[in-house]
Amino acid sequence: MPDSTLITHIGELVTNDGDAGSFAAMADAALVIAEGRVAWTGPASQAPAADDAVDAGGRAVLPGFVDSHAHLVFAGERSAEFAARMAGRPYQAGGILTTVAATRAAADDALRANLARLAAEMARQGTTTLECKSGYGLTVADEARGLALAAEVTPEVTYLGAHVVPPEFTGDPAGYVDLVCGPMLAACAPHARWIDVFCETGAFGADAAAAILAAGRSAGLGARIHANQLGPGPGVRVAAEAGAASADHCTYLTDADVEALVSAQVVATLLPGAEFGTRHPYPDARRLLDAGATVALATDCNPGSSYTSSMPFCIALAVRDMGMTTQEAVWSATAGGARALRRSDVGHLGVGARADLILLDAPSHTYLAYRPGVPLIAAVWQAGRLVAGSVTL
Ligand code: NIG
Ligand code: FE
Repeated sequence: MPDSTLITHIGELVTNDGDAGSFAAMADAALVIAEGRVAWTGPASQAPAADDAVDAGGRAVLPGFVDSHAHLVFAGERSAEFAARMAGRPYQAGGILTTVAATRAAADDALRANLARLAAEMARQGTTTLECKSGYGLTVADEARGLALAAEVTPEVTYLGAHVVPPEFTGDPAGYVDLVCGPMLAACAPHARWIDVFCETGAFGADAAAAILAAGRSAGLGARIHANQLGPGPGVRVAAEAGAASADHCTYLTDADVEALVSAQVVATLLPGAEFGTRHPYPDARRLLDAGATVALATDCNPGSSYTSSMPFCIALAVRDMGMTTQEAVWSATAGGARALRRSDVGHLGVGARADLILLDAPSHTYLAYRPGVPLIAAVWQAGRLVAGSVTL
C-alpha cells in the first residue's frame, strides 16, 4: 500500500468495532495505517506488506483517548484551595472567579502557552482528540478570545460564557444571561462548535440553562451541560429536553434522571477527577450502564476541581471506584468520548477511522487500571503521525 505503515506483533489490539461499535479486541494482531487512516486490521500472520514496519513486541495498541471535557484556557492555579479542601473545606462554585480574575489579566501569549503545555501533556498521555471550553473570561471580549485560542488546538471548541455570574453582574444575574444569549453568543458562535452551561446551585438554574442552550442551538451550536455535579438538580432533565449530546458530571442522579438520559440518548460523561479533587462521592457508572445509558469518561482538566490531564488516571478511578470493568472504562474513554462529541471518525480503530492510536508499554488494556499512576503510554499517533513517544522496544 502507498505511504503506509504496518504495526505488527500487537499482543492486544483494541478496535471497538464490535456490534454497534462495542468494545472489541484481538490477540496477535496487526494494523496498517495509510494516508492517516486505518487501512487494515487482522491477524499478524495475514498482514499485508507496507512501506514501513513497526514491531510492537507483544504490546497492546488502543484507539487514542477522546477527552470530551476540559477547561484549558486559563491563567494561574489554585493549589492552596485544593490543599484546604483536602483539609476539610468544601468545594464551592465561586472558586471559579479566582481563575476568572487571573485569566482576564493574562496576555494572549501567556494563555496560548498554558494551553499548548496542557495539550502537549494530554498528547503524551494518549489523548488524540480533546474538547476545550471557554468560561474563565466572562466578558464578550474575553470569552471570544478564549475560544479563538482554543480553536488553535482543537476543532471541539465549547462556549461556556455561562460558567458562573461574574462579579460585575452580581446584582443582575438575569442581565448576565441576556448578555450570554445575545452579544456574547454573537461574538463567540463563529469560534465554537458547542455551547455549555453550568447548571447548579451557585451558578445557573433550570430556566436560565434551558434558555442558554436554546439560544446556542439557534446560533448553530450543539448543546452540552454541566449537570448534577455538586448535588441533585434539574441539569439532566434540561439536557434531555434540549437534546444535548452530553450531560457531564452526573454525580447525583435520581432514577428519573437515569431514565431521561437513556430515553433521550444523552451521553452521561463522568469526570472522576472532579470527585477526586473535591472529595465528593464518585458517580455510579454501574447504575448508568445497567440502565442502558451511554457513558463517557473525561478529565474535566481545570485548575479548580480537577487539575489532571490524564485519561489513564480517570480509567483507573472508574475501574476501582465506579463499578466499571476495564473494558467498559477503556471503551468510555475512547468510543464513549467520541459519542459525546458526535464523532464517528475517532474512538475506534475500524477500517476508515482516523489513525489515532496508542502503543502501551504493557500487554493489555487492563494494565491502565492494574498499574495506576505508571507512565504506560509508549507512543501516540494522531492521523497516522507519531506525535509523542517512540516505538523502540
Ligand atoms: O467542571 N463545574 C464547573 N466547572 C468546573 C470547575 C471549574 C473550577 O473550579 O474552576 C468543573 O468542575
Ligand atoms: Fe467542567
